Amino acid sequence: MDFSSLITTRYSVRAYRADPVPEGVLNRVLEAARLAPTAANRQPFRILVIPTAGREAELRRVYDRAWFVQAPLVLIMCALPGEAWTRSDGLNYALVDATIAMDHLILAATEAGLGTCWVAAFDPVAARDVLGLSEGMEPVALTPLGYPADAPRPKQRKPLADLVDRERW
Ligand SMILES: Cc1cc2nc3c(=O)[nH]c(=O)nc-3n(C[C@H](O)[C@H](O)[C@H](O)COP(=O)(O)O)c2cc1C
Repeated sequence: MDFSSLITTRYSVRAYRADPVPEGVLNRVLEAARLAPTAANRQPFRILVIPTAGREAELRRVYDRAWFVQAPLVLIMCALPGEAWTRSDGLNYALVDATIAMDHLILAATEAGLGTCWVAAFDPVAARDVLGLSEGMEPVALTPLGYPADAPRPKQRKPLADLVDRERW
């Protein structure tokens, strides 16, 4: 799939089939995150791959939507601020790095015919508890990973003129 088709095809999938994700396909998706650029190449992120089977109730403590646990896998992108590059004014880039890696992963999943949905509105306290995250791991975004059982909707986006200024603003 060329890049233009890829970014047009991706949408937030909120219904999944239970079919398994083949290990080779999962590895390609994870490899795309590994290849993402990060500030000073620090690679300050970790991805947890959680099979949903048997853990539906626990995972719904983290994000309480039926579709969240319909796919065979949930991926958790965590930033590691302690390993990240910081700007001269102290701004830590761990969230930026983890977000770029997550976007790589999501686009690779789309190319493989898989569905994803960025989830940020989860309960971070429950996430720490259920996923056993260590102190330095900051959960940034979650996504189910599985084959879609819904269909894309037309994209609602602001016109480019509302998003881009030239020369000055
Ligand atoms: C950082 C981020 C956080 C999001 N969090 C949620 C979420 O918690 N729950 C949800 O259903 N969708 C979430 N979304 C999906 C957005 O609602 C969705 O991307 C947007 O409406 C555009 O639709 P599309 O992804 O189908 O193009 C999130 C998206 C992003 C980028």
